[in-house]
This record gives sequence, C-alpha cells and structure tokens, in this order.
Amino acid sequence: MSKPVNVAILGATGAVGTELLQLLESRNFPINTLKLLASPRSAGTTLKFKGETLKVEAVEAKAFQDVDIVLASAGGSTSKAWAQTIVESGAVMVDNSSAFRMNPEVPLIVPEINPEAAANHPGIIANPNCTTILMAVAIYPLHQVQPIERIVVSTYQSASGAGARAMEEVKIQSQAILNGEDPKAEVLPYPLAFNLFPHNSPLTDAGYCEEEMKMVNETRKIFGEANLKITATCVRVPVLRAHSEAINLEFKQPFSVAQAREIIAQSPGVQLLEDWQKNYFPMPIDASGKDDVLVGRIRQDISCNNGLELWICGDQIRKGAALNAVQVAELLIKESWLNKKPSTLKV
Ligand code: A2P
Repeated sequence: MSKPVNVAILGATGAVGTELLQLLESRNFPINTLKLLASPRSAGTTLKFKGETLKVEAVEAKAFQDVDIVLASAGGSTSKAWAQTIVESGAVMVDNSSAFRMNPEVPLIVPEINPEAAANHPGIIANPNCTTILMAVAIYPLHQVQPIERIVVSTYQSASGAGARAMEEVKIQSQAILNGEDPKAEVLPYPLAFNLFPHNSPLTDAGYCEEEMKMVNETRKIFGEANLKITATCVRVPVLRAHSEAINLEFKQPFSVAQAREIIAQSPGVQLLEDWQKNYFPMPIDASGKDDVLVGRIRQDISCNNGLELWICGDQIRKGAALNAVQVAELLIKESWLNKKPSTLKV
C-alpha cells in the first residue's frame, strides 16, 4: 500500500473535476488530505467523497501548501495562472489543459504508451487532449507491431468536451426544439441539438482548427515520432458524453485484420467490440462511463494496399481526461516520481 498523499483538484465542480473525485474514490487512490478548488462562484458549495461532505474552496495561493499532487481541470488560463505557485509550493500538477502540452520540458503522458517519459518532469505533467488520448491508446499497440505511416482521422465529439455547461445547453436546446421554440446557443457558438458543426476551436493559417492540430502535434509527441503523417477533421455532434472517431491507418507493409483484432483484444486500455452478424459496433452510449476505449469495425482499406480502417468510441471525460490524469498520478506514486527535476521551465 502506497503512502497516502495530499491531493487538490483544481476545477473540482466541472465535468472532469467531478469525475476525478469519483475516480479517486472508486480506485481507492491513497489520499491523506483532499482539497476541492474552483472559482469564487463555487466557494462554499459541497461535494461528496467517500460518504463525507467536502466544501469547495475558491482557489488561492495558500491552498497549495502541503499539497503533493494537483489534478487541474479548470481551463488553460487557470492552469497558467496557478502553475508557478503550484510548482513553487512543491506539488506536481497533472494538468488537463492545453497550456503546457507542447512545452518540450513538460512530459505529455498516456500511461499505456509512454509512462517512462513521466520520470523527468519539472513539476508539471500534461494530460493530452481528449480526442488524442482516445486515438493514441487505440492505435499505439498496432504501431508497436508495425510502424504507422499515415493517419487520417475524423472525429464525432460530444458536448462533454466543452464542459458541464455545454452538456446542459444541449439538453435545454433539445427541449426547446421539441417545444417548437428556437434553440439558444450561449456556451457553444451554434445550436448543437439536432445539428453538428466543425469543431469550434480557433482556426489556424493552414485551415485546420486548433483541436485538429492538437491531434497532429500531441500524437507525434506521445509516440516520439516527430514526422508521423496525420491529418484530422474534428466535428462536434449532439451526443452528451463519449467521443467517436473514424480512423484510417496506412502502414509500410500489409497489416491483416485478424492480427489487428488479436492485438487490440490483448492490449491495455482498449476493448475489441464488434458483432458483424448484428452490425453492432461501438457507440457513445456503450463507451459512456467506461474506462476502456472501444474499438471495432476493423477492416481492410480497399483504396490502398496497406491500410486499415477502425472505428472507436471512448469516454471523453474518463479516459479522455479524468482517468488518464488519475493514472498519471498513480504512476508518480508507484514509481516514486513525485520529486521534480531541476528545470528552467518558465511558467
Ligand atoms: P466553477 O464551477 O466555480 O466555475 P467545466 O470544464 O465543466 O466547465 O468546468 C470548469 C471547472 O473549472 C469548474 O470547476 C470551474 O469552477 C473551474 N474554473 C473555471 N474558471 C476558474 C478560475 N478562474 N479559477 C478557478 N477555477 C475555475
């Protein structure tokens, strides 16, 4: 049994924050003290943990004193604002935001793929983008057997990726439409209920949105393959929770469907789910609340010699965010990697 540690959740009241709380409980994470931090809006509200009622505090510098691990999921600007205080107070921040992911000093970790990279951290470890984690965990076992040459991915992303308020907004919009009223969009830029739209993250000069470029750059960093060819199209769909992705992989050599299935069936963090007789393959409702990324519809790409097509669904809030962060924290404890390495990181 590991020595219990002092944990703080920054963004405890959000969609990922509340999931973090549940995971710490269900996985029996070795906790000595637990602090729940959010914006001043939530100060004084309460959340349950192991049958106890805990008060949410507004984040402030002294909240991080004596904390060993901060699980941060309050957005990039909040992570940036508090990173220095957290690191100086001696805690390690496992950060769900995109603020530090591409910083060369900050490890970007998916524990099933590159756990060893977490050993050398400057007090911050980044959790990858949700769509990236889900894809990476599904395709890395194949990449290990035969290097992937090119990835073409299209995503079908649920409202949960935009937070608890976006999930609520989709429900309200759905109700409005069923009542014959016009749906209002306040959190998301356009009505999502009974609709879809290309991912609303800012567009880059090359015409890709930031979410798509996260899939490109973060997958390269996690795999340690700076030149891996990846192109992505990210789309928001009116699903409350769990993202889906259609992934096309091109290899150097032919990759048999039978071998791909066998590998997926044996790999950590993924589950093969396909019933070809019933035309039944992973759906967001199957993946919601599950730890594993569901993989199915593995088939040969008929348009090229060495291609495979797969369809995946994974819980964005769980493996795509909270679970991955908790796994990283568990890794730090198991390997005694809580001490930060000397670094010139400016935060
Ligand atoms: P609050 O509930 O007080 O607004 P989600 O991604 O589901 O929208 O959740 C975001 C989380 O980040 C919430 O817990 C939210 O707290 C928290 N948060 C947002 N802005 C800040 C901030 N400036 N300081 C601390 N926590 C913040």
